[in-house]
Amino acid sequence: MCGIVGYIGHREAYPVILKGLKRLEYRGYDSAGVALINGGLKVYKKKGKVAELEEEVIGKDLRGHIGIGHTRWATHGEPSDRNAHPHLSNSGEFAMIHNGIIENYVSIKNDLLKKGYTFKSDTDTEVFLNFIEDIKKNNGGTLEEALRIALKRIVGAYCILLIDQNDPETIIAARKGSPLVIGIGKGEHFLASDASPIIEYTKEVVYVNDYEIAIVRPDELILKNLGNEKQTPFITKLDMELAAIEKGGYEHFMLKEINEQPETIHDCLRGRLLPDSGQIIMSGIDDHLNELKNAQRMVIVACGTSWHAGLIAEYIIEELCRIPVEVEYASEFRYRNPVVNKGDVIIAISQSGETADTLVALGSAKEKGAFIFGVVNAVGSSIARLSDAGAYSHAGPEIGVASTKAFTGQLAVLTMMALKLGHAKGTIDEDRYIGLMKELEAVPEKVRLILEDTSNIKRIAEKYKDAHDFLFLGRGYNFPVALEGALKLKEISYIHAEGYPAAEMKHGPIALVDENLPVVFVATKDSYYEKIVSNVQEIKARKGKVIAVATEGDDVIPAMADDVMLVPDADEIIAPLLSVVPLQLLSYYVGIAKGLDVDKPRNLAKSVTVE
Ligand code: G6P
Repeated sequence: MCGIVGYIGHREAYPVILKGLKRLEYRGYDSAGVALINGGLKVYKKKGKVAELEEEVIGKDLRGHIGIGHTRWATHGEPSDRNAHPHLSNSGEFAMIHNGIIENYVSIKNDLLKKGYTFKSDTDTEVFLNFIEDIKKNNGGTLEEALRIALKRIVGAYCILLIDQNDPETIIAARKGSPLVIGIGKGEHFLASDASPIIEYTKEVVYVNDYEIAIVRPDELILKNLGNEKQTPFITKLDMELAAIEKGGYEHFMLKEINEQPETIHDCLRGRLLPDSGQIIMSGIDDHLNELKNAQRMVIVACGTSWHAGLIAEYIIEELCRIPVEVEYASEFRYRNPVVNKGDVIIAISQSGETADTLVALGSAKEKGAFIFGVVNAVGSSIARLSDAGAYSHAGPEIGVASTKAFTGQLAVLTMMALKLGHAKGTIDEDRYIGLMKELEAVPEKVRLILEDTSNIKRIAEKYKDAHDFLFLGRGYNFPVALEGALKLKEISYIHAEGYPAAEMKHGPIALVDENLPVVFVATKDSYYEKIVSNVQEIKARKGKVIAVATEGDDVIPAMADDVMLVPDADEIIAPLLSVVPLQLLSYYVGIAKGLDVDKPRNLAKSVTVE
């Protein structure tokens, strides 16, 4: 995680960097800092959000046409002024910011301590920087050469920006595992963790690859590999508008993004889902139809909310394609020496396309000969580039830390994928195929109906906001929705919440049930409906408070529940796209009722680029 921004050119660097840091705050927000060169190096840093840095620097000398800035998500060392980036080298000549983790920093630090180096922070970054300085001192070469040598010796992940007070014409950058985009302007360059700080200045960008070093000057961008060979920068045109990364009149990004879902799901389906002609056009699948439909097994690898989308996809793919599917936490899959065979398809699901655990898991599966299919939202991201094929979820930039519209975008892609493969394999009959396509096509309008009046959900949120625990229960396709509802509530309201398969509840969680425990049932009309009605009764018999997500027109569940959130009727395969929406709103309104920062919940970060 951590957001990094750099600027070099004819403008004042500080305002560009500050604005950029605000856009990248979703990546971490426990401290922030900038370094500028103007006669000498000026470094300002502060614990807390970027706004606190902004206050801190009032009245300070902020001039300079070159600078780097950082917003942090702590890994090594608590959030504090001294652990905030940028860090200075012992000589005071170099300043550096870093997104990532240096795993062998302890041994490097011990060597440097023996040589008399001192450290002002607890960070791995300060060690890394002094390591570079030490190499430069001993070898007598350039800073770039010293960096190259250092990069070959460190173990870990990094995106760094490095400046030298004696060279106000150059920013040196390098990446491995953490993202870096460079915007190309006229006589200026912008560097950032994603394109959002760059978009208003230029649409021409270069995505730097792993193991590349960039030497960036106002009029020049040189890319090299670690062998010091020049690489040709591949310029991409950004397909993103500034409005997409602003709040557009909403109080919070999370609310904006929840409300965007009719549009984002529609964007995801547009041009792909063609029920009238019975076609689903997805070039990433069309180009690799045989590998995908003949897969012996599919393994879905993801983290967080994306993992929940994977669980729903497991149900859908097994039902429609009859291909065995496993869903793995990327972090576990990576480290347990999994069996991966040629002919296996790995589906990576990721909003950011930068999640370190997912990225590393894919790398090792690829080495074992698996075919990688990426379901990614961030265009041009590392996972998108590593995949053999894929489909973007087209939800647009998601800024709120808790994922909402990206989740429904992932579900829309995965449902289309299952329909397309099932149809190609002949495991789904024509009527069901066309019927489900039509159901999917109707989703944006049904989500719009849910969003039309949210006052009831707001009322429910206020009623239960002081609960200490919540249980979320669902069965079948709605079981992962229950998990997602619980995760969302934890993230946004800090209330402990557990998601469970409704039937499994009898084997443990039922012990928690009393008159103080709100139990959210995701109980839409599906093939499990009668069973879940019994589960609701089991909770009511023990005086639990039942909040139900139920289907419009159902009169059984609403009669039993204490509170109800209704969603339009839909086929059970499509239902999660609807039943998750009230749960997103419930957690949003509980967070608001508790006065919390719903866009930037404590301790979290949106893009988790550390393992
Ligand atoms: C973080 C975010 C979650 C997200 C997860 C996976 O934990 O806070 O919202 O679901 O990372 O991220 P990805 O970008 O890979 O979907």
